[in-house]
Amino acid sequence: MGKQILITGGAGFVGSTLAIGLKQAYPNDRIIAIDNLRRRGSELNLPRLKDMGVEFLHADIRNPEDLLGFDSLDFIIDASADPSVLSGIDSPVMPLIQSNLNGTVHCLELAQKTGASFIFLSTSRIYPIKNLEAAAFEELETRFVWKDTQALRGISSRGVQEDFPLEGSRSFYGSTKLASELLIAEYHEHKNVRSIINRCGVISGPWQMGKIDQGVLVLWLARHYFKGDLSYIGYGGTGKQMRDVLHADDLLQLIDHQIHHVDLYAGKTMNVGGGLDCSFSLQELTALCEEVTGNKIAIKPITENRAADIRIYVSDCAYLNSINAGAWTPKKTMKDLVADTFEWMRDNEKNLKNILN
Ligand SMILES: NC(=O)c1ccc[n+]([C@@H]2O[C@H](COP(=O)([O-])OP(=O)(O)OC[C@H]3O[C@@H](n4cnc5c(N)ncnc54)[C@H](O)[C@@H]3O)[C@@H](O)[C@H]2O)c1
Repeated sequence: MGKQILITGGAGFVGSTLAIGLKQAYPNDRIIAIDNLRRRGSELNLPRLKDMGVEFLHADIRNPEDLLGFDSLDFIIDASADPSVLSGIDSPVMPLIQSNLNGTVHCLELAQKTGASFIFLSTSRIYPIKNLEAAAFEELETRFVWKDTQALRGISSRGVQEDFPLEGSRSFYGSTKLASELLIAEYHEHKNVRSIINRCGVISGPWQMGKIDQGVLVLWLARHYFKGDLSYIGYGGTGKQMRDVLHADDLLQLIDHQIHHVDLYAGKTMNVGGGLDCSFSLQELTALCEEVTGNKIAIKPITENRAADIRIYVSDCAYLNSINAGAWTPKKTMKDLVADTFEWMRDNEKNLKNILN
């Protein structure tokens, strides 16, 4: 018998990629995916999970009773959340806290009960918005970039490191994730739950159900593919805002390494992302989408910024690289990411048309 791994949010984009990828790599492991199917499109992953031999349970991590059926687990990977940075800003906050914070605590309780190690998908959004926006930047032809020298610690042209100052507001989404991180550290220290915290920048790839407030790369590609509308929102409306992005397949490789080398990572919090080598501005993404789809759409400039937006984010993964001595680096390029996602969209056009449009 292999390992028993429970993945929450297992029908979501990241959760299903991890569940299917781990089952493929380790057929003797028992992989259980739980999800409340709240995210539109997550139901499309159910047949894929089934075909691969991943067990699925309809469960909601907000309800501790939904988690009673497990006695012994080796790992819990917590990939269930409302992942939108806009949640709670113009909508009630409590649902977000119940899912992203209370839900995480219920999963930690389960980890304690079952003896599981805990892998958490946190976010770069735990870093305060005003601090990121205060960073010195340059405007290049197609993107904004951070300057080498900065007034604040933990930031350079290579990106943000883990010691970047944490004072300030970060969105309700970011704060539910940071609050979860704090509680995870306590369960690690006092309740014997070995834990790993991955602070991820943008993650993307096939099976991400991109929508207006989350999953920008897929949304952008879908609007080109299905010929919809788009806007460059904020920062003068030029589409030069920039992010690093990690292909979900590369994240899978990292989580695989973490599962099989827990001692290296346990108790650590690390930035995880594609870094400068895999990054894009909206303007650059437009060019890639036009190239792969052959379609050109009108993109409206809107000069005012959107709430909680940031001009630039890049993950500096130097700490992660030092933990594992460079055993993991992202392999997929921006071109791979767009090409893989395009292929998925084309192969699943009928099912995706209403969800991504
Ligand atoms: N995608 C990204 O760019 C990104 C970046 C950084 C961090 N993350 C984190 O990674 C994790 C996975 O994100 P994703 O992109 O796969 O999002 P997703 O929305 O595709 O997947 C999340 C899944 O969790 C499920 N879910 C939500 N609330 C639940 C609940 N209360 N009980 C059970 N299931 C529930 C949803 O139905 C969905 O299937 C999240 O924790 C997110 O915060 C994602």
